[in-house]
Amino acid sequence: MNCSKRMASEKVLSESDWLAQVRLRHVRREDLPELEWDGEYTHFRRVFAQGFQRARSGLSILWVAELPGSGVIGQVFIQLTCDRPELADGMTRAYLYAFRIKPPYRNAGLGTHMLQTVWEDVVRRGFGELTLTVGKDNPDARRMYERHGFRVVAEEPGVWYYPDHQGVYQRVEEPAWRMVKRIS
Ligand SMILES: CC(C)(COP(=O)(O)OP(=O)(O)OC[C@H]1O[C@@H](n2cnc3c(N)ncnc32)[C@H](O)[C@@H]1OP(=O)(O)O)[C@@H](O)C(=O)NCCC(=O)NCCS
Repeated sequence: MNCSKRMASEKVLSESDWLAQVRLRHVRREDLPELEWDGEYTHFRRVFAQGFQRARSGLSILWVAELPGSGVIGQVFIQLTCDRPELADGMTRAYLYAFRIKPPYRNAGLGTHMLQTVWEDVVRRGFGELTLTVGKDNPDARRMYERHGFRVVAEEPGVWYYPDHQGVYQRVEEPAWRMVKRIS
């Protein structure tokens, strides 16, 4: 094997090595500070805490990807019910949101693994549809969802409000596509 081929295969090996060690599990209370990603998502502290309370009540499922030695490297949250039945109605339709993986771990297949896992989980719980919204300025993510069987069904103005870590309500406007994946 020449040098460049060996380096390429070593890179593939080291990628699959870490990927094989990643464990997907539900969020525990002690994970909440880690979801803030060293300050990048501090403003969502109360949103994460509220999501955790909803999960404890059985209304949501919060998943994290944990890599031993590195901690939480990704997350994806599922609402089983919410105040918008076209997104999640508690019976047939669940809503995926807050899906993100730390930059060094992207493009290696972890997102695909997480999407498959949450899809199988909602189907096992009796849901037949998974919805999400993806920013119109995020064509890479939209393409990935399409590859996984999601189809655009509507436009979303993407206006929402949340209390930041200091309790100040923030307004967000992210024009988006609503996408749905259905059991075939
Ligand atoms: C979207 C995301 C979770 C995918 O995770 P991943 O582990 O990189 O996914 P995979 O390796 O299984 O698949 C890679 C796909 O993600 C896309 N992707 C890579 N980086 C991305 C980024 N920064 N933002 C959006 N999508 C991205 C790639 O284009 C690729 O799709 P392609 O093969 O059609 O080009 C991850 O890239 C991410 O955290 N992005 C930033 C946050 C985000 O955009 N979340 C989605 C909000 S709806």
